[in-house]
Amino acid sequence: MTFQSIPKVELHLHLEGAADPDFVRQIATEKKIDVSGVFDETGSYKYKDFAEFLSVYEGATKALKTPEDYARLTRSVLENCAENGVIYAEAFLSPDFMGQCDMVAWREYLAATIEAAGAAERDLGITMRGIVTCVRHFGPDQARISAKCAAEVAGDWVVGFGMGGAENAHSAVDFAYAFDIAREAGLRLTSHAGEWCGATEVADTLRDLRVERIGHGVQSIDDPKLIEQIVEQGIVLEVCPGSNVALGVVPNWASHPIERLRAAGVKVTVSTDDPPFFHTTMTHEFEMLNRTFDWGDAEFSQVNHTAIDAAFCDADTRANIKARLD
Ligand code: ADE
Ligand code: ZN
Repeated sequence: MTFQSIPKVELHLHLEGAADPDFVRQIATEKKIDVSGVFDETGSYKYKDFAEFLSVYEGATKALKTPEDYARLTRSVLENCAENGVIYAEAFLSPDFMGQCDMVAWREYLAATIEAAGAAERDLGITMRGIVTCVRHFGPDQARISAKCAAEVAGDWVVGFGMGGAENAHSAVDFAYAFDIAREAGLRLTSHAGEWCGATEVADTLRDLRVERIGHGVQSIDDPKLIEQIVEQGIVLEVCPGSNVALGVVPNWASHPIERLRAAGVKVTVSTDDPPFFHTTMTHEFEMLNRTFDWGDAEFSQVNHTAIDAAFCDADTRANIKARLD
């Protein structure tokens, strides 16, 4: 079995962040929108650091103007995922970009996305579910509006609520109200933490937002007490090693803590985050984990099973995906 053909479960994928540069250029050309500033001379996304990454990310979303654009984006992203053996993906959806948080527009963007995901499931055999996400640096008030958008559509397809963006903006507790709205609506919860900021941010997020998964969480490695808590509470980390290397969270693959976290008993999963930004795919992540840490069938099976067990989908979907993993 090749790394590409191993069936995979991916829990941490930003829909806009998974847009291929060619796809963004095509849509922008059709609409006569100038997005040249987000690309370098080779045609790749251009950024030097995390702040620029976020701004280029937001710049690229300027090309995505209609529900139809999101339908096409979803199809394109799921084709790439399926090509890399992904059979189940949870994608972050931002009402901030999908209709500027206007409830009517948001519902239209979402309907187009769900329809495209349904077609991809029939054609490509990949199942997608949505996690609505707020953007931390847009602030707690905006996050609350995103949470209301999420609560309105909570169900079998929109299954979770989360938070991305600049981790140093505000404190976790400032977003407690938004997460309470989502929890009340029955949504499962995750949040980025411990990517850029330290272990304390992970501890604050667990305490104040009461999430069951953490996006990244790799900085937890510095705090043995926190690791103990994460293991004891069964908190799942959505680890994105290639993203961490590309953005400079860690200097290289060899120093990435994913294997130390796994060996400590932490439930780790593997995802790509924003694959074209980081020149990665799930196949590449698996290949690098094999090359760097000698991961093989046992470890890949473990992370896939951890991921599907921690997925926010319903029991029938989980059972179907599990059957395809074995
Ligand atoms: N949004 C998209 N990718 C992100 C990342 N790696 N960290 C925080 N927010 C993000
Ligand atoms: Zn992310």
